[in-house]
Amino acid sequence: MKKSTHGCIDCQSCKRNGGTCIWKDDITPMLEKVLDSDVLVFASPVYFFSISSQLKQFMDRTYAVIEKIKNKKFYFITTAEGPSDTFEEDFKRVNEPIQGFLDCFDGMEFIKNA
Ligand SMILES: Cc1cc2nc3c(=O)[nH]c(=O)nc-3n(C[C@H](O)[C@H](O)[C@H](O)COP(=O)(O)O)c2cc1C
Repeated sequence: MKKSTHGCIDCQSCKRNGGTCIWKDDITPMLEKVLDSDVLVFASPVYFFSISSQLKQFMDRTYAVIEKIKNKKFYFITTAEGPSDTFEEDFKRVNEPIQGFLDCFDGMEFIKNA
């Protein structure tokens, strides 16, 4: 399904207005759901040993509500093509941007990646 999305442009409007992003798009209701959830499950294929641009765009948009996201359990699902002798490296390196994201919030518990 095609979604209309925008990336964070660091305009800082959300920091001046109490957490409302200037973009009104398909990510807007997703952020509401994140605030209401106890458990977050992110998923992305491995792209060049990292996450997809779509997931990164979503993660950057949480900047608007960063102070309100805390104490959630977190799961990450990923896939890679291989070859099989690179899987270990794929799965190790794709976790780095995810761990960096979690490190920016309070009390986010990385339960499992699969
Ligand atoms: C731009 C791009 C970069 C990719 N980089 C990697 C990579 O570094 N390592 C890897 O194993 N697979 C890589 N892939 C393959 C995807 O991870 C693979 O197609 C995807 O995980 C398959 O998911 P699916 O089984 O859900 O279709 C890349 C694919 C694309 C389009």
